[in-house]
Amino acid sequence: MNERLEDIAAAMVMAGKGILAADESSGTIKKRFDSINVESTEDSRRDYREMLFRSTEAMSNCISGVILFDETLRQKAADGTPLVDIIRASGAVPGIKVDGGAKPLAAHPGETVTEGLDGLRERLSEYHGLGARFAKWRGVIAISGDLPTGGGVRANAHALARYAALCQEAGIVPIVEPEIVMDGTPGDHSVDRCYEVTEWVLRTVFAELFDARVNLEGTVLKPNMVIDGKNARKASVEEIAEKTVRCLKATVPASIPGIAFLSGGQSDEEATAHLSAMNAGYDLPWQLTFSYGRALQAACLKAWSGKSENAAAGQRAFTHRARMNGLAATGNWNSDMEKTA
Ligand code: 13P
Repeated sequence: MNERLEDIAAAMVMAGKGILAADESSGTIKKRFDSINVESTEDSRRDYREMLFRSTEAMSNCISGVILFDETLRQKAADGTPLVDIIRASGAVPGIKVDGGAKPLAAHPGETVTEGLDGLRERLSEYHGLGARFAKWRGVIAISGDLPTGGGVRANAHALARYAALCQEAGIVPIVEPEIVMDGTPGDHSVDRCYEVTEWVLRTVFAELFDARVNLEGTVLKPNMVIDGKNARKASVEEIAEKTVRCLKATVPASIPGIAFLSGGQSDEEATAHLSAMNAGYDLPWQLTFSYGRALQAACLKAWSGKSENAAAGQRAFTHRARMNGLAATGNWNSDMEKTA
């Protein structure tokens, strides 16, 4: 594996591939497993993720990198092979979620700041030794009434920049993820309000990255799309694609090699349609791809339902979504392809 930050970042956003976000924390994976009535244990989490990483066709043709949770980076498959080795053998880059989650921001009711900077230098060094070549840190910004505030936006942007600089010092590419969530309270904001907040947050994040001396050519941005709130969805695919591209062009330097979107609660097909519309319709200075969690895994999780005899069905469902998103990453997806699956 090439070890220059720029080369790792370029591999993460190579044309036609995207990133599998399989870094659900213990609490989040429990919620996902609850939805299919499966108990979350070390073994059930291992079995599920091993099934994903052994989906050879999806992994080698459509997935450039996998974001892991701490436990998974250290875990072995049922036959004793480290899961990281299975990922590497497919050609994908292993990555690691390093943030400690969003915690209430003092004196800012309704806002959070992501914690985890203390001891991060030492953790990154260990993660590098375990094979991680990129990391992820998610800052969470909710739209609600007068929120976010300047203090909330700056605190999250500053933490992202300090994290990114530490990653690069350790030879790890930072995925910088400032997420404006779709499902804030009450989650009925307009697409234009999302545009305004996304533009503000991205400007602030890039100003902080500059001050922190982060090398943008060795950085991947993971933003939300410019989309209306979960409880007020009415913007069309074309409107979301146009506003997202306009907002990113206004805020994201061309020296960033690639942008990999989160899915954020969009349906599987919406997330694919939006990505494809952006790639098909616009000249872009960066690669534009996916780093989906739910939108890559929801169908697979359901097909698997915790039963080993369903593993092949789970892999088929994952492979289908990965293929659809791989096509969207070059603007070549259309909805008929879903029906012929
Ligand atoms: P979703 O695609 O489910 O939003 O997850 C992506 C992710 O990594 C969130 O941090």
